Amino acid sequence: MKPARISGSMRTLFILTFCLLLSVVPLAAQENTCVQCHGSLPGRYGEPVLLWKTSVHAGNGVYCHECHGGDPKDMTNAMNPSRGFKGVPKQTAIPETCGRCHVGVLKDFMGSAHGKKLGNGGPTCVTCHGNHAIKKASLDLINEKTCTKCHPYERARLMKQAMQATEGRITSLDNRIQTLKLQGKASEGMEQGLFNARNRFHTLFHDVMVEKVRSESTAIDKELETIGAQIDAIEQAEKKRKIAGSVAIAGALLAALFFRLLGKTYDN
Ligand code: HEC
Ligand code: HEC
Ligand code: HEC
Ligand code: HEC
Ligand code: HEC
Repeated sequence: MKPARISGSMRTLFILTFCLLLSVVPLAAQENTCVQCHGSLPGRYGEPVLLWKTSVHAGNGVYCHECHGGDPKDMTNAMNPSRGFKGVPKQTAIPETCGRCHVGVLKDFMGSAHGKKLGNGGPTCVTCHGNHAIKKASLDLINEKTCTKCHPYERARLMKQAMQATEGRITSLDNRIQTLKLQGKASEGMEQGLFNARNRFHTLFHDVMVEKVRSESTAIDKELETIGAQIDAIEQAEKKRKIAGSVAIAGALLAALFFRLLGKTYDN
């Protein structure tokens, strides 16, 4: 009996399927042995992969070795200390682990009442942000459940209140600028101003100083008022232009009607 032959079209199908599989599996994950091996492990060794996949870090190419060290390209020596593997960071080493990339936050944190109590009852970055499933930061991170683990909520509540008001203003100005942009009317200056104010605002928290948050929020609110006034002016001008436009159209319609009636009068 002759061996079964794969027909030409079958072979094409195999090749196509193979190519498809290659393109579906992200290239980075293929060569990242930490993700590969841990992804197939059960329990607490596999879970980090599932959580990490949902994080802002996975989306920005920050892999396991950025926090744990090691060599993600070498399956057999990946976790060898000689390849820089550090294992699970101790509580006191967490801020510097994260702060390698989040330099400004590390500085604010270390100078704060929280940083000064590091290893002595204070929180670490992970207390508030989590470790593997880290999401984009928001004021929701300030909540009774997290903040009352160690002290009363009162100071946290005051900070959150001051920050929420400013956050609301930033969001509303941003929406209005986006609308003007669609109409081709927003200026670069306004956008840049808001961008700067927002950046300053987001560095307020880690000092955890209630008075500083309040006074800085007030200062940022002043800047936002200036931007708001600029937007008001453009929106007003646009409204006037629209009204003038409608008046002109109504006028033209009236004139047309008038001449038509006039024509009718002469026809008779
Ligand atoms: C071939 C499989 C494999 C690869 C590749 C691998 N790991 Fe692991 N890893 C394990 C196993 C199994 C354990 C649990 C037993 C142990 O600690 O050796 C573990 C444990 C760990 C731990 C916990 C250690 C502790 O002290 O509890 C961390 C953190 C870790 N791995 C990170 C990494 C990082 C980062 C990489 C890539 C640079 C990596 N692993 C690559 C299999 C792997
Ligand atoms: C942004 C930094 C960061 C990244 C990225 C990260 N880890 Fe971790 N991981 C940590 C920190 C911090 C801890 C210790 C958490 C704590 O003390 O609460 C930890 C703990 C662990 C542990 C110990 C869990 C346990 O229950 O004992 C394992 C295993 C681990 N990580 C594996 C991984 C793997 C695999 C990846 C990649 C998929 C990864 N980590 C990515 C920061 C990170
Ligand atoms: C290798 C560099 C690196 C390390 C280490 C690292 N991060 Fe990040 N982190 C990034 C990048 C890149 C982003 C995405 C861009 C951005 O938002 O800044 C990000 C985003 C974040 C965000 C969301 C920022 C936002 O705009 O809302 C938080 C929160 C965060 N990281 C916390 C941590 C914590 C906590 C650790 C330590 C457990 C850590 N990071 C370790 C690089 C790093
Ligand atoms: C006590 C809780 C808490 C601790 C501890 C904490 N954070 Fe945050 N972090 C927050 C809150 C709340 C925000 C959101 C502030 C906002 O929306 O303006 C934030 C925002 C951020 C952001 C995004 C804003 C920015 O400035 O880029 C990053 C990145 C970040 N934290 C990283 C860290 C790192 C790294 C550490 C440790 C050195 C840390 N955080 C410690 C609560 C905390
Ligand atoms: C792991 C424990 C822990 C957690 C969780 C924690 N804190 Fe703290 N916090 C401390 C310690 C310790 C101090 C210093 C002693 C004190 O003032 O109570 C402190 C002080 C403060 C202060 C006063 C700072 C000053 O200079 O007077 C504020 C504000 C604060 N925390 C806000 C928060 C907020 C907001 C959260 C939640 C997002 C939070 N803390 C979560 C431990 C913690």
